[in-house]
Amino acid sequence: MTTDDPKQRIMKLRTEIERHNRLYYIDAAPEITDREYDALLQSLDELEKRFPEFASATSPTQRVGGAPLDRFENVQHAVPMMSLSNTYSKEELVEFDRRIRRLIPEETFDYILEPKIDGVAISLRYEDGELVRAVTRGDGATGDDVTSNVRTINSIPLRLSDLMPPAVLEVRGEIYMDTAGFAKLNEERQEAGQEPFANPRNACAGSLKLLDPREVAKRPLDAIFYATGQLDGIAFDTHEQMLQTLKGYGLRITPNYWLNDTIEEILDQLDALEALRHEFPFEMDGGVIKVNERRLYEDLGYTAKSPRWAVAYKYEPEQAETTLHAISIQVGRTGVLTPVAELEPVQLAGTTVKRATLHNEDEIRRKDIKVGDRVIIEKAGEIIPAVVNVVKEKRTGAETEFRMPTACPVCGSEVEKREGEVALRCINLQCPAQVKSWLTHFASRGAMDINGLGESLVEQLVDGGLVKNPAELYALQKIEVLGLERMGEKSAENLIKGIEESKKRPFEKVLFGLGIRHVGKGAASILAKEFKNIDALMAADIQRLETIHDIGPIVGKSVVEYFVSDQARGVLNQLREAGVNFEQAQAGGSNELEGLTFVLTGSMESMSREEAGDKIQARGGKVSGSVSKKTSYLVAGESAGSKLAKAEKLGVTILSEEQLLALLGSDEKLKDQKAGQLGFEF
Ligand code: IVH
Repeated sequence: MTTDDPKQRIMKLRTEIERHNRLYYIDAAPEITDREYDALLQSLDELEKRFPEFASATSPTQRVGGAPLDRFENVQHAVPMMSLSNTYSKEELVEFDRRIRRLIPEETFDYILEPKIDGVAISLRYEDGELVRAVTRGDGATGDDVTSNVRTINSIPLRLSDLMPPAVLEVRGEIYMDTAGFAKLNEERQEAGQEPFANPRNACAGSLKLLDPREVAKRPLDAIFYATGQLDGIAFDTHEQMLQTLKGYGLRITPNYWLNDTIEEILDQLDALEALRHEFPFEMDGGVIKVNERRLYEDLGYTAKSPRWAVAYKYEPEQAETTLHAISIQVGRTGVLTPVAELEPVQLAGTTVKRATLHNEDEIRRKDIKVGDRVIIEKAGEIIPAVVNVVKEKRTGAETEFRMPTACPVCGSEVEKREGEVALRCINLQCPAQVKSWLTHFASRGAMDINGLGESLVEQLVDGGLVKNPAELYALQKIEVLGLERMGEKSAENLIKGIEESKKRPFEKVLFGLGIRHVGKGAASILAKEFKNIDALMAADIQRLETIHDIGPIVGKSVVEYFVSDQARGVLNQLREAGVNFEQAQAGGSNELEGLTFVLTGSMESMSREEAGDKIQARGGKVSGSVSKKTSYLVAGESAGSKLAKAEKLGVTILSEEQLLALLGSDEKLKDQKAGQLGFEF
């Protein structure tokens, strides 16, 4: 068999992609960039489309598939999914140990301590190494079949990494939303006028219940496995051995665990674990103590709901009591008014908390929060302090009811509540608060990437009346900028140059920079590729937008609403007149690299591989993650490794960084750009 055999190529690519998944998710030691990974996935996708006879449900291209469901099927667990008995008391742990030793007096064994993850329990079933089903715990006997949602979680392998996998392997674990992802999701929901989730567990449970896997795929979900269900063709002596085997298969396990032969030492370890509580990227609400020797499980037995060989010790939630002095209002990028509790500073989970989000007016009413109240605060998702409840017994009668303002506190304009939304919004697109966050977004790295234009400069530009929308940036004169704080001759020049250069950014970045609600980087890129220019996109109606793969009704509606707004159209015209790029490069711009495929390896001096890839694509070239006979050029940076060797072997033309720069054209002031971005960019 040769590598020209499509089946072989497809198999090889799948294995390679799975290996990179493992390196990224399990070993935290990626060998390629996101872009290179995407390029591999794209090559595989193209091959699978050309040769549909080799399609497979476990291919990494098939994570998000199928139409939205009407409801979830109820499925019986092959082995019941038990829960754990919980305790907050160390005495009860000592009692747990005594009971075990009474039941098996002759045995010697170890305890294993693991962090308790606060997520949603899940059972995955692999048959002959392939993921066939994912079911929630439900009532323990039957649960919901959420396979199509769980398949979208990139860290969960669709195939186990083993050439001889067991006939049946059921693994059980916890799906969770990491704390950073939770904070970002809630911020987005807030900006979209939606009800935020109370904590990462609710956000995770809510995500798993979505009927459209494409929506689930956008949620930052992850999973850790710590138990088994039905097994056929495999057995484990100890829990630790089971964990390590799962890890070998490519399933994520807890980042740390402790083994000890006495409960006293476990009690000490629990304190050590508690000290690490805020270091985990997920919500950790206690420790789980299990007997390590699995042969003892049958002897120890089970109660109606939980095993006698394991117990969960829960840490008290970290809360603090303080006084709510006032409620202030923040105005976000899309004009959403968010009430914020101004608190008497108080220590909570290692930081001083002065403010806490109150989300929206409904939340204030629901919790009956008044200004002057003593309140209990907690950190939702370890990051964002939230008011949990009011200590009503401490009310003096001097507390006052809070009402949301009827005008925007920043610009005085009218506020509105849109249908189906919980939030109030300022309707003035020129509200300085909105303009500031719009400009900051427009200038950010993922959008127009205007060097030097950060939040504080934006603040000055808007407050000084110099800029009222992104288009006005392009009319800024050096002399105007020179009048700003901490702005010397050189930085003023650089800023103007940075703004000028941003006119050449690819269409998808401009589209993202416009800040259309719900249009993130991914949607912007899809829309740019589909419509090729702004006029075609503006002419599209909701039906047309909804026919596009991966563009849902929410994005579609938001795009249409954006373009009917006179204010938005005005800014677009101004941007166009300023010379900002509103066309996809291949459709009209330069495409001198069309038909050429590049592979980038090693590190470059003048730019990152990511940037080099952007520039190649902007000129119509393709970027691939692996070298083959079809590769036109291999660009070899510093410390290029196996790809360089392979390219040499195949006789592929090798380019140095300088040669690539020459090929990209002399107009590039690449050397000016941020130098020396080496290695991986995860
Ligand atoms: S073992 C047979 N280990 O916490 C019981 N559970 O409050 C298997 N949980 O039902 C469960 N972290 O959903 C186990 N390291 C861990 C866990 C863990 C979180 C969950 C699980 C369990 C619940 C009990």
